[in-house]
Amino acid sequence: MSPKHYFSPFVSSLPSSLPSSYLSLSFSPFFLLHAMASSSLKHHKSHSLNGFTTPAKRTKLSFISDSEIQSEFSHHDQTIARINNGSFGSCPQSVISAQQNLQLQFLRQPDNFYFNTLKPSILHSRSLIKSLVNAHSVDEISLVDNATTAAAIVLQNCAWGFNEGRFSKGDVAVMLHYAYGAVKKSVQAYVTRAGGEVIEVHLPFPVASKEEIVSEFRKALARGKENGKKKVRLAVIDHVTSMPSVVIPVKELVKICREEGVDQVFVDAAHGIGCVDVDVRDIGADFYTSNLHKWFFCPPSVAFLYCRKRGEDGKGGDLHHPVVSHEYGNGLAVESAWIGTRDYSAQLVVPAVLEFFNRFEGGIEGIKKRNHEKVVEMGEMLVKAWGTNLGSPPEMCGSMIMVGLPACLGISNDPDTLKLRSHLREHFQVEVPIYFRAPVDGEVDSITGYARISHQVYNKVEDYYRFRDAVNQLVSDGFTCASLSN
Ligand SMILES: Cc1ncc(COP(=O)(O)O)c(C=O)c1O
Repeated sequence: MSPKHYFSPFVSSLPSSLPSSYLSLSFSPFFLLHAMASSSLKHHKSHSLNGFTTPAKRTKLSFISDSEIQSEFSHHDQTIARINNGSFGSCPQSVISAQQNLQLQFLRQPDNFYFNTLKPSILHSRSLIKSLVNAHSVDEISLVDNATTAAAIVLQNCAWGFNEGRFSKGDVAVMLHYAYGAVKKSVQAYVTRAGGEVIEVHLPFPVASKEEIVSEFRKALARGKENGKKKVRLAVIDHVTSMPSVVIPVKELVKICREEGVDQVFVDAAHGIGCVDVDVRDIGADFYTSNLHKWFFCPPSVAFLYCRKRGEDGKGGDLHHPVVSHEYGNGLAVESAWIGTRDYSAQLVVPAVLEFFNRFEGGIEGIKKRNHEKVVEMGEMLVKAWGTNLGSPPEMCGSMIMVGLPACLGISNDPDTLKLRSHLREHFQVEVPIYFRAPVDGEVDSITGYARISHQVYNKVEDYYRFRDAVNQLVSDGFTCASLSN
């Protein structure tokens, strides 16, 4: 890899008397933290629009090496081929160190941390995210624990629409059939219980084109409106569905919602930032959440929730954090920045995460592109080896792709997927989630199991070879899921 011009909010704050060896890429976590603690707040105003640069000082450094990447993730269990970044994400050592330093700062002098550090640091993280996702204003960005919390905030708001008489009984919320399980439960808890009707968009899988999704979405909206008798109050649209994993054409679906008079649109992009392009203005939804702990290298747990500023139509306001504390009524972003005494450190390490991204060629964009290319290459390698097929065309995936498993494995229900996943973990040291696809009427010997493989910077080609060889071994042994006990 070639050297690059490197801009850093931390490096830019170095005293000029420091020896040049401090500017090598192998600076220690301590150095990074020390620089961060002393500089990140002072310098945040000097970040450029994309949040990655400061106009201060340029320092030429080389890109992170393969061995440095491996050492950043040396806390991972090295015996496991972890091709499942999707479930829990990952956090490099330098960011963990930054977090630990912040936790210690709090424990050392909590009052000082609370009065002088916490609020401005959260604001700084929000402003970096605001620039990265192209929001209009930092007020539109709140930091919350995770996508589940963000969904509760939006759905609670919808429930109040029913409870306060602004919505009529039977008004509709539309969501994808493949919406995340926890979000579906939240829809049940907040919308169904308040008197709303829920309509699911049935999606084909395997999927051949985004047009198939657009057409199913239009049909569901038409059902929801029932010739104008009902009002669709909310559409919940995933940006990247979890299981099976497919990138949804969110921008097109939001546009259709606008044309069809849907009140509000919430995009659940738990796998958004770092995995797919996120430009909230371009996407145009009212609410957009993305975890930062999945593909953005934050430790668990933190997500952002974008809420488009209240327009002249009065829509988009009055959201509240479900945990009410002193800041109630001061706007969602401020409410979310204090929901009682707890560990806020995951929300404060965004500058250290950007520092990590900047060590890679092309930064966040470069990582995203390479992850996509690699996961497609590995997916194609696996389906070729097993004589199966991918669950979607490559352009409908980000850093995860669905890979058909040989039909002879006999995956015949959801419990089988969990049993096979455990078997792969325990006997082959492969960690990968599996999806059950029920055969459609008339199908014989169709693929009933798809593995969702991920690619992140720490993955090696050997991880995928191990998975390939494990499945080949199972097939040649005549294994079927029926042989696994519950
Ligand atoms: C689409 C989707 N939504 C929501 C979530 C929930 O994320 P979290 O558990 O971080 O709240 C996930 C988790 O994988 C997801 O894939």
